Amino acid sequence: MRDIATIVQQMTLEEKAALVTGATPWTTTPVARLGVPELFVSDGPHGVRRVEDVNTLGAQSIPATCFPTAALLAATWNADLVYRMGQALASEANAIGVGVLLGPGVNMKRTPLCGRNFEYFSEDPYLAGELAASLIEGIQSGGVGASLKHFAANNQEHQRFSIDAVVDERTLREIYLPAFERAVKRAKPWTVMCAYNKLNGEYCSEHYTLLTEILKQEWGFEGFVVSDWGAVHDRVKALRAGLDLEMPGPKPRRTQAVIDAVHTGELDAAVLDEAVRRVLTIAFRAAETPKGAAFDVEANHALARQIAAEGMVLLKNDGILPLQNPQRVAVIGRAAKYPHFQGGGSSHINPTRVDSPFDALQSRAGGATLTYSEGYPAGEEFQQSLIDEAVTAARSANVALIFVALPSYKESEGYDRTDLDLTAQQVALIKAVSAVQPHTVVILHNSSAVAMTAWIDGVGAVLEAWLMGQAGGGAVADILYGVTNPSGKLAETFPLHLEDTPAFINFPGENGQVRYGEGLFIGYRYYDAKRAPVLFPFGHGLSYTTFAYSNARVSAPTFRDVDGVTVSVDVTNTGAMAGKEIVQIYVHDRHCQFARPEKELKGFAKVELQPGETKTVTLALDFRAFAFWHPGHKQWVAEAGEFDILIGASAADIRASVPVTLQSTQTLPSLLNYTSTVREWLEDPHGRTVFEPLFQQMMAQMQQAFGGGDRSNEDDIGMNMMGFIMETPLTSILGFQEALLPAPAEVIVGELLRQVHGR
Ligand code: BGC
Repeated sequence: MRDIATIVQQMTLEEKAALVTGATPWTTTPVARLGVPELFVSDGPHGVRRVEDVNTLGAQSIPATCFPTAALLAATWNADLVYRMGQALASEANAIGVGVLLGPGVNMKRTPLCGRNFEYFSEDPYLAGELAASLIEGIQSGGVGASLKHFAANNQEHQRFSIDAVVDERTLREIYLPAFERAVKRAKPWTVMCAYNKLNGEYCSEHYTLLTEILKQEWGFEGFVVSDWGAVHDRVKALRAGLDLEMPGPKPRRTQAVIDAVHTGELDAAVLDEAVRRVLTIAFRAAETPKGAAFDVEANHALARQIAAEGMVLLKNDGILPLQNPQRVAVIGRAAKYPHFQGGGSSHINPTRVDSPFDALQSRAGGATLTYSEGYPAGEEFQQSLIDEAVTAARSANVALIFVALPSYKESEGYDRTDLDLTAQQVALIKAVSAVQPHTVVILHNSSAVAMTAWIDGVGAVLEAWLMGQAGGGAVADILYGVTNPSGKLAETFPLHLEDTPAFINFPGENGQVRYGEGLFIGYRYYDAKRAPVLFPFGHGLSYTTFAYSNARVSAPTFRDVDGVTVSVDVTNTGAMAGKEIVQIYVHDRHCQFARPEKELKGFAKVELQPGETKTVTLALDFRAFAFWHPGHKQWVAEAGEFDILIGASAADIRASVPVTLQSTQTLPSLLNYTSTVREWLEDPHGRTVFEPLFQQMMAQMQQAFGGGDRSNEDDIGMNMMGFIMETPLTSILGFQEALLPAPAEVIVGELLRQVHGR
């Protein structure tokens, strides 16, 4: 183990300032005289995008496996498989000399329109956090660092360099931070990348609360914080806020600014030393991993195919899938031959090879005849002749397989989608083909919800194949032909219409700000609250077999928050084909002083079952599964009382519900103050005790004045007096009758508060 502290001492101010700014777009500054190695970083997240010339940003990269994007990865709900993808990513990073891979991204899918949704996991923070942690653990098990990004509230590309995300504290803690929190605490990523945007008025790169107080102090993050590329505005302020490494470099003016700030005293030398210590720790750690061994191209391609097959989601199936050896198959749609398997921008991988669905289908089809029709052009222009051709082919076939991909530029870093629609030609194509061929299957390539109401009723099956990575073509064929039983489930809700989506009226903001007005209620939390219909719910996905749930039970019907509770359920494969089921555990809080979503995902497991086989799924729920963030107490609170543990096959398909009672061991200080209402005084256990005598006195006076009854002077001013009193601050109520009181209202309430707070 190197003595980092000594090296920090030996470094000159100039060397330190240089170390905390990139030397090139992808490397840190080495210090040869002290043996400090250069650290090489590359995108991320679903493959290694290492450029040949380190001084270029966007050039084509060295070939590497393009694994499925996070959109598909999340739909596997398979933490072990995600871990294995991490291991494979590390093997490639090591082969081509990369020390830190810039990913995964765990920002919430707040709206299906976000251009970068393909890089993000889910609308649910629990699912995103768990899977991201597994990916990081896999990557780091190979001696390669991960960079968890983009911290935080980077949920749109519109004005991404400057937009101010206005998010209330509870929403931030319960929705936008937990995936980061879980990944940091569980997987200990070597680095975290800050977001470009502002959060509540402050650039994330300069956000002391976010980078230092929450990430480093509260969550115990020990790696270094790197800026997103070009996210730093004021280098010195960023350092003070906890941003350790600025990328990309070189930036001599920034380096000089740091040196000057230490000289003038504007920057405490100790702050710089701390950033240096963090960067050195990771640079030395990365250098311990041997580089240069070849990676196994075939094995990684096969793994990419396996992941792709597990993350594809069978959305609809009226029984035509799996295909029963059709003799004439009309394969329609450009994406069958020119697969659309990744998104645009910094994550764009130069794949080692690409499997086309058409070729894969051909190899699965036995002696059947496959025809190919393009169906639609690459862009958004309309060409009726392509539709006509496809209809002719479909009419004379036993089945039509339509591969529909959003135009490749639609889902990209840097800008958002403007609608959920397929192109006009694609919609017309699906309608025309399904009108002549009842056995029509639509295979979709996109990374977030698309609208389907215009055509879905006319088709027999829909397979969501996502941006599926380079080996996805084979996976599609395996699923269509039943070689693989589909087992993916949606990690995001598919709405009926864009107007139905939770952020619709707040997105993408105006005047430099986007208000997260829907608060906690994104994704299924929103549709649940509104009792609103959706196209496909969160957690939905069909199989070629069926599963029955039975014997749902908990370790104890009453449990202490510190102990948590364990929930078990038996799952049986009741069909004829081996398959995998994803069991989802949601928690419903029956009563809470704060608004809470109807239910929230707090556990999941994927189980493989042979026909007739039963397995027991057991999952532990801890304190956090029941808690909400209390902005008054600035901490997580789990209120004593009754909860329901819901066991579901999707958010809309709850198979069992088990009531439990939580006993709280938390002692929370009273939050009563001068503006607390009479109701709050009565509901606060401490407050009630000290307030009770005065309250009785008040009630007696009311009795006298109005002759009793809590609807006493309703006739006078049409008001329920008791209702009014309950919702009015005690100080104000007393103030109305101050002439009758022995002391001013503030003094009386002040005395009660002293008794409550013990000072
Ligand atoms: C992206 C990051 C990426 C970085 C380096 C930025 O524009 O937001 O996700 O890691 O570039 O390519």
